[in-house]
Amino acid sequence: MTASGLPPLAGDLAEGLKRLKMAAMRQLAPELLVTAKTQRWAPEEFLRTLVEAEIAARDASNARTRMRTAAFPVAKTLAEFDVTASSIPQATFDYLASLEWIRATENVALIGPAGTGKSHILVALGVAAVEAGHRVRYFTAADLVETLYRALADNSVGRVIETLLRNDVVLVDELGFAPLDDTGTQLLVRFIAAAYERRSLGIASHWPFESWGRFLPEHTTAVSLLDRLLHHCHVVITDGDSYRMKQARARTGGGRKPN
Ligand SMILES: Nc1ncnc2c1ncn2[C@@H]1O[C@H](COP(=O)(O)OP(=O)(O)O)[C@@H](O)[C@H]1O
Ligand SMILES: [Mg+2]
Repeated sequence: MTASGLPPLAGDLAEGLKRLKMAAMRQLAPELLVTAKTQRWAPEEFLRTLVEAEIAARDASNARTRMRTAAFPVAKTLAEFDVTASSIPQATFDYLASLEWIRATENVALIGPAGTGKSHILVALGVAAVEAGHRVRYFTAADLVETLYRALADNSVGRVIETLLRNDVVLVDELGFAPLDDTGTQLLVRFIAAAYERRSLGIASHWPFESWGRFLPEHTTAVSLLDRLLHHCHVVITDGDSYRMKQARARTGGGRKPN
C-alpha cells in the first residue's frame, strides 16, 4: 500500500512509464486502476483517460514554458482591461482579442500617450496568444536593439533574428522611449524587414508615426521601417487621460489635490 492507501503500480510498469517520461500517467495509474476495476471500465476507456491526462499535463507544461520564455514584464490580462474606459472601439478590441491577426501574420501598432494602456494590451495579447498555443516574445525596443547590438559583436545578427522569428509574435514595447543611433536603427530595420509578411509584430509607441523621425535618425530608414511595419497592420490609437492619473485622482477624491 502507498501513502494514499492505493496498491502501488507494478515495478516494471512504474519503471517503463518513468523511462518514457509519462509522469502524469505514472501518477494517475494506481488510482485509475482501482477505479477502472471497481467500476468495470471498458479497457479503451481506461487507456483513453490515461492518455488524456498525459496530454493535458504536457500542454500545461508547454504553456508554462512558453509563458516564461515570453518574458512578460508584468502579468496583465485582456479581461482586466476596461474597454469602456479607453478610446479603443469595442470591435477593434474584440478583433485583437480574437488573435486572428496572428493567424493572418498581421501587425498591431498601439499609439498613444503614457498611461493609456498600450503596455497592458500588448502584454495581455501576448498572454492570450501563449494560452492559445502561440510562441511569443516580449521586448522593450531598447532591449531588442541591445540584443541585436550584442549579436553584432560576434557577427550573429542573422542567427539571432532567425531565432526571434521562431516566435509567432514578437512584441516591441516603448518604441521611441530612447532615441536610436544609426547602428541601432539599421538593426531594427533589419529585424522588421526579416519579420515582414512572415511573423506578426505588436508595437507600442507614444510617438505618432509622423514623429518617428525624432528617434529614428535617418529619414529614409524611418520610411522603410514604417513602410514594412504598416503594410499589414492594425493601428490602434489609445487616447485620453492617463489611466494611472485617473486612478490616482479617484483615490484622492474626484480630482481634488491631495492635502
Ligand atoms: N482601460 C484600462 N483598463 C484597465 N487598466 C488600465 C486601462 N488603461 C490602463 N490601465 C492600467 O493603467 C496602468 C498604465 O497602463 P500602461 O499599459 O502601462 O500604459 P502605457 O503603456 O500606455 O503607458 C497599468 O497598470 C494598466 O494596467
Ligand atoms: Mg507602456
